[in-house]
Amino acid sequence: MATKALSAAETLLKKIGNTPLVKLLSISDEKKEFYAKLESHNPFGSVKDRAAYWMVKTAEEQGLIKRGHSVIIEPTSGNTGIALAGIAKLLGYKVEVVIPEKASDETKKIIESLGATLYQTSDDLCPKVGTGTDQSIALARSIASARPDKYYSPNQYANEANFMGHYKGTGPEIWEQTRGKITHFFAGVGTGGTITGIGAYLKEKNPLIKIIAVQPQQNHLIQGLRNFEESAKPDLFLKRENVIDDWITINNAEAFAAVKEIFQKEKMLVSPSSATVYAAMKKYYVDTGLVVGIFADDGRKFKSLYAQQGIFTPDEFDSTLKEAKYLSNAVVL
Ligand SMILES: Cc1ncc(COP(=O)(O)O)c(C=O)c1O
Repeated sequence: MATKALSAAETLLKKIGNTPLVKLLSISDEKKEFYAKLESHNPFGSVKDRAAYWMVKTAEEQGLIKRGHSVIIEPTSGNTGIALAGIAKLLGYKVEVVIPEKASDETKKIIESLGATLYQTSDDLCPKVGTGTDQSIALARSIASARPDKYYSPNQYANEANFMGHYKGTGPEIWEQTRGKITHFFAGVGTGGTITGIGAYLKEKNPLIKIIAVQPQQNHLIQGLRNFEESAKPDLFLKRENVIDDWITINNAEAFAAVKEIFQKEKMLVSPSSATVYAAMKKYYVDTGLVVGIFADDGRKFKSLYAQQGIFTPDEFDSTLKEAKYLSNAVVL
């Protein structure tokens, strides 16, 4: 019985990575090709499946956690909570998630439906790094440090395994999928694992590839991303910040307009974070080349936010779901 359950779990976990790279036809021409790496096609619906899996596997290899005994606790703006709740549970761990109350209701419901315990703080949408501002991070740390025998916090903001998941996985995938033709790479920054992992790999392959970091405005509404004028840079990001060639800032209005535009032009229902990356790819000047952006998750968790922002009424949202292309079979959405 235990063997059978484990093999079903392993089958699902093997589906992490190898996500599709889709051409954005409406903004591509003979000189420039734009592609989106659709991380919603991971089993739990986002780019964070990669980091969560690598962090849990590495902690097991290092003997820091034991199946059936340890509790994994993590501060997150949503996707890492979903990924950990799904993946760690499959592997035999309890999960507790500390999340800002501003995260979307759909996100919180998914985490609870996966059986994780949820603690909410009044933090900004992405827990700010820096003394006195990071309630989610501080709360996770204090719960974990009171019971070190039982609790383990991967701490995605400093965990090297978060970087490695992208350096060993997503980076090589993009290199192979573009047959080495990529010239520009765009990603948003939360912990920095995605952009530094992929950026470091791509720069080793071809130092001329431009790595462009996308940030939202201050006091933004973009779940998963961080603005570095209002939040300190995470340790993981600081370690390899030098892979970044350029920065671009996108405001809330530009991001939400892009959600609508991508649906109209590409029939894709994307998340605020993916729309922010799309807006940046369009706004940044590229003369010729092959441009790849990370679409970290899709729009299915944002029905309430899109209604609130006047992007799609609930009825419109339901019809976009019927028309949308490239929706994944992620298990939680
Ligand atoms: C939707 C979304 N986009 C982008 C990111 C940024 O990824 P990273 O933490 O690797 O910088 C995250 C991280 O939580 C996310 O949830």
